[in-house]
Amino acid sequence: MRWEGLIKTYKDFLPVNENTPMLTLNEGNTPLIRLDKLSRDWGVDLYVKTEGANPTGSFKDRGMVMAVAKAKEVGSDAIICASTGNTSAAAAAYAARAGMRCVVVIPEGKIAMGKLAQAVMYGAEVVSIEGNFDQALAMVRKISETEPITLVNSVNPYRLEGQKTAAFEICDQLGGAPDILALPVGNAGNISAYWKGFKEYNELRGTGLPKMHGVQAEGAAAIVHNRVFENPETIATAIRIGNPASWLLANAALSESNGKIEEVSDEEILCMYRKLASSEGIFAEPASCASLAGIYKQLRNGEIPHKTKVVAILTGNGLKDPNTAIDCSPVQPVLLPNDEKAVADHIKGAVHI
Ligand code: F0G
Repeated sequence: MRWEGLIKTYKDFLPVNENTPMLTLNEGNTPLIRLDKLSRDWGVDLYVKTEGANPTGSFKDRGMVMAVAKAKEVGSDAIICASTGNTSAAAAAYAARAGMRCVVVIPEGKIAMGKLAQAVMYGAEVVSIEGNFDQALAMVRKISETEPITLVNSVNPYRLEGQKTAAFEICDQLGGAPDILALPVGNAGNISAYWKGFKEYNELRGTGLPKMHGVQAEGAAAIVHNRVFENPETIATAIRIGNPASWLLANAALSESNGKIEEVSDEEILCMYRKLASSEGIFAEPASCASLAGIYKQLRNGEIPHKTKVVAILTGNGLKDPNTAIDCSPVQPVLLPNDEKAVADHIKGAVHI
């Protein structure tokens, strides 16, 4: 049967009524891929959910389709968000699809090139501020209180409603919840949404509950250290956030699930970023790889028993951030003359054929 997106598929689980537009870009239904090599090497049963396979290349499409549909339902004709990049891409795309205007506020110089390209192509009004995400979010929250424009950051409850559907899919794909669900944490909306989804599905279908393992970047680890990071810094710009809006909900997910919040260095993130692409053929953006880096760290520390079933969420596509890929890649193109023999000789030497 043709996949028709989240609102139609999960209407019984979502705040959908007869006036809700059936907005969709056929988001959701993303692959759950077993990492065979890493499972063997690490002694666990490891899967990744590739959310980069969504229409705009990140998990944000799940929440955005719901938030934009509900805005449209009540007659709003414009949406606004602050973003480290992926939210702005998703907001701009769904606004275009719904025939609405979109304003995105981003931190100058700190968003990956692919995400900026998306926002401008989808026709958003892009405002770049000399400040960080937390400051941008404070601004758009204020503006949306007084102006006739709908806020679509994850403080909008419809965002979490849409995003919880990924937990349903995992339970269906695996035949139940995994032992551990690992994901990167920035503004902390997604970890809160997943936990809500797992609880709802478990109540209805008895699919079980995972331990929630959130992972932050060391330079932006507010929840880990229980303090605001005034100047968050990390190569994983998607999670360069110092004062997560859904902090309390995330704490509830961590404690109710008997989970854990972890931090990893940029070096650990980049190491996993390269390893995942080169050993499993899966290219996810740096922030996404924090989830696997966190799991690897906990395995080495003996905190995760062998044979544990782990699902790590790869929140965004690697193509979002081509600059980081090129800058940190050990493999650079070799420049040769336009000469068949020279090329053949080089190839024979390089790959030993
Ligand atoms: N991974 C990626 C690729 C993201 O873009 C984000 C958040 C996260 C993880 C963290 O999710 O905020 O729900 O804890 N990106 C937001 C944005 C902040 O503006 O695109 P979270």
